[in-house]
Amino acid sequence: MRLNNDITILVNKENPLTKDFIPNNLIAVDENENNFHNFIDPNMKPMIDKSAYEDYLKLISKAKEDGFILTIDSGYRSFEYQKVVLELITKEEGEEYASKFVALPGCSEHQTGLAIDFAAIHNNIYDENLNDEEIEWLKNNAYKYGFILRYPEGKEEITGYAYEPWHYRYVGKLSTLLYENNITLEEYYLKKDYYYSNEKNK
Ligand code: DAL
Ligand code: ZN
Repeated sequence: MRLNNDITILVNKENPLTKDFIPNNLIAVDENENNFHNFIDPNMKPMIDKSAYEDYLKLISKAKEDGFILTIDSGYRSFEYQKVVLELITKEEGEEYASKFVALPGCSEHQTGLAIDFAAIHNNIYDENLNDEEIEWLKNNAYKYGFILRYPEGKEEITGYAYEPWHYRYVGKLSTLLYENNITLEEYYLKKDYYYSNEKNK
């Protein structure tokens, strides 16, 4: 059941999704083979919400023009799959790490299909670790395609998560406002009226 078609939906520790929230517009992303780390089924292609797909392809294409081969590590995750991710990371890295980097099932915006963890191809090999230049490129350019760096450095107290240079969230046109004001989605919702009146007065 899709409860909300809004691409600006806020999902975090305080605003969870229900277990049965499944985006109704998922589309498989298949521009690269064998790039996805699906812990349950390695053959399963990553999926994202259709509304983000075109802009995702544009972003990837511009990155390529600029010399970076970006791809997707993780897109949509069901409630159940998030459980698996959490269990696995907790086992591998410990509870403290997991609490900073992995959302509880229901609290992950990956469940909306609007979040993307970026990875890259380095020397023809899939690499889930972005290098500094790729991280910088995404920081400076992703907003032009509707994506925001969702868990920035210095905003950990606000987002509830550690800095994740790979995790981007599709918000469509709202991305420019968030980028230009250097704010997170949480800060935007707290002062939405203020940001809109400022936009109008520009
Ligand atoms: N890594 C982010 C917080 C998530 O698990 O959704
Ligand atoms: Zn992520």
